[in-house]
Amino acid sequence: MSKKILITGGAGFIGSHVIRRFVNKYPDYHIFNLDKLTYAGNLENLKDIEKAPNYTFIKGDIVEMDFVQELFDLHQFDGVIHLAAESHVDRSITKPLDFIFANIIGTVNLLKVAKDQWEESNFEGKRFYQVSTDEVYGSLGDTGLFKETTPYDPRSPYSASKASADHLVRAYYHTYKMPVVISNCSNNYGPNQFPEKLIPLIINNIKHQKTLPIYGDGKNVRDWLWVDDHANAIDLVYHKGAVGETYNVGGNNEWQNIQLVRKVCQLMDAKLGREPGTNEKLITFVKDRAGHDRRYAIDSSKITNDLGWKASLTFAEGLSKTIDWYLENEEWMEHVTSGTYQSYYQQQYNV
Ligand code: NAD
Ligand code: TYD
Repeated sequence: MSKKILITGGAGFIGSHVIRRFVNKYPDYHIFNLDKLTYAGNLENLKDIEKAPNYTFIKGDIVEMDFVQELFDLHQFDGVIHLAAESHVDRSITKPLDFIFANIIGTVNLLKVAKDQWEESNFEGKRFYQVSTDEVYGSLGDTGLFKETTPYDPRSPYSASKASADHLVRAYYHTYKMPVVISNCSNNYGPNQFPEKLIPLIINNIKHQKTLPIYGDGKNVRDWLWVDDHANAIDLVYHKGAVGETYNVGGNNEWQNIQLVRKVCQLMDAKLGREPGTNEKLITFVKDRAGHDRRYAIDSSKITNDLGWKASLTFAEGLSKTIDWYLENEEWMEHVTSGTYQSYYQQQYNV
């Protein structure tokens, strides 16, 4: 009988790449995509695989315990890959409670229901995978890297909610012997990212010759990873990661925000046939984000040494591909900015 894998948050940015990979690569699995379709959920991200025989979409909210219980009773999942979350730091500053509910309560609901069901068979063949962020480790100075042993020190409501969820996942491992794995990844970029995040926002604004807002002095540093390299890491950790272990995932690819934005400006001058230097004139320094973490950087040697993971693209290749994707997929961006993407579910699923 085929394995039933529940992937939460599969209509979002990273989740859609994970769903596509699992549906195409593992015909023996049945992949269930559970997603609430918040503003960040977009089923147009999955148009190419939505009719696959080993794929089912379920609209639902992980915060609703009764719903989660009924879903597990109905399907008896073998594994959970948990990505559903509120994911944008700026929104967490204005609406922290949304993050507490989705990221903490949502996670513990899944943990509780899975544990209650799986412990009857002593967790045989089961696995709960928490997909987390490097932001739980806090903020670095000019040097140093986050390791799996770095103490948690979250500083935004987003990272605090993810840290809390990670702690609960570990608590289920230690208390109930639930087979869990966790990964903490750096900033992802690539196709299908909602244009509230830095890279797609900058690409879209350059295209429409709108200003490019840079928070503070622009010298905050992020480590950037091509989204499908993260999906590959998730595949490896799900299948080969040791139970109870954590794996850091990063691109070894640090950029100050201002350097990164200048790079996108230059690439897009060339791609759009504009005079060199045209796009950089759109850069505008704006008020800093409250509590803005200064630097994130990841040591990914554990996942590389233990599981053989490595990034497949250089940043130059990935950034160029990303810009091309947004320029070639005008309709996707138009549907997102006009809001029509939110009616795709009703149209496609006749509800
Ligand atoms: P995203 O915001 O693009 O997608 C999140 C998805 O979760 C959306 O489809 C949304 O509808 C769904 N969702 C939200 N609340 C829900 C709820 N209560 N019930 C069911 N579904 C719900 O996020 P993303 O950038 O794809 O991130 C996915 C996961 O990866 C998150 O857990 C995030 O913390 C983690 N992560 C993200 C990054 C990054 O750079 N984006 C890096 C490391 C880790
Ligand atoms: P973001 O994509 O929101 O990811 P995160 O906050 O999770 O790292 O932001 C990436 C960096 O870019 C972060 O340092 C904040 C900065 N930033 C800007 O300078 N301007 C913007 O308009 C946005 C959205 C982000």
